[in-house]
Amino acid sequence: MSLQTTSTPADFEALAQTDLSGTTCVVLDILRATSSMITALANGAEQILPVATIEEALAAKAEHPEALLCGERNGLRITAAQTGGTEFDLGNSPREYTAEMVAGKTLITTTTNGTRALRACVNAEHTLVASFLNLTATTDYLRTAKPSRLVIVCGGTYEEAALEDTLAAGAIAESVWDLFDECDDASQAARLLFASAPVEETLPQAKNAQRLLSLPDLAEDVEHCLQSDRYPFTATVAANGMIQRNA
Ligand code: MLT
Repeated sequence: MSLQTTSTPADFEALAQTDLSGTTCVVLDILRATSSMITALANGAEQILPVATIEEALAAKAEHPEALLCGERNGLRITAAQTGGTEFDLGNSPREYTAEMVAGKTLITTTTNGTRALRACVNAEHTLVASFLNLTATTDYLRTAKPSRLVIVCGGTYEEAALEDTLAAGAIAESVWDLFDECDDASQAARLLFASAPVEETLPQAKNAQRLLSLPDLAEDVEHCLQSDRYPFTATVAANGMIQRNA
């Protein structure tokens, strides 16, 4: 029973080429991709298709014309100028994903790191989408399922590790630590960081948090993404690649 944590986008390629049979992956992109996905599902979104590129998003839209195009580049909603004429419907602020906007809808989303992290787990037996918003539901699932191999995949920020993702990885590692007899140092480091101080003290030191807090229109995203267990459900990637809410 092994527990591993990956921290940066540099790990995605190796993960995608790894034999992940019998493996459960938990993907974290706290600011803000997985927080936005969980918020959208909480507000009634039917399903979410994560794709790695804008081109893939536009191709998926052609197959699902009723779907909403969502996502960001450099933290901001993707515009017609970036796509050759198609304006995305939503950006990547969780506060945009209201019931009015998303209830009953299929969402297609591409973000800088979070959706790439999800695509890197395509060969896993199970892939869960996690955030602070649904952390306990996720760890409760893991403690019941007892996967033989668990990989916590952090989205990171640009090409670097993201403090907020490491904090959430540490919270998960702490919660399931006793289930595993082989834990890598990245998981141990995340666990020790999480135990070192309250999240609300540590998280504002994250570069991505500081960037969002400096943008008046996005500053409130940080507080939203920091909420503990506001949405008590798990979310998994189905065989067709769609993220769906469980119960
Ligand atoms: C990401 O997926 O890299 C982040 O969530 C980007 C963002 O929302 O600013």
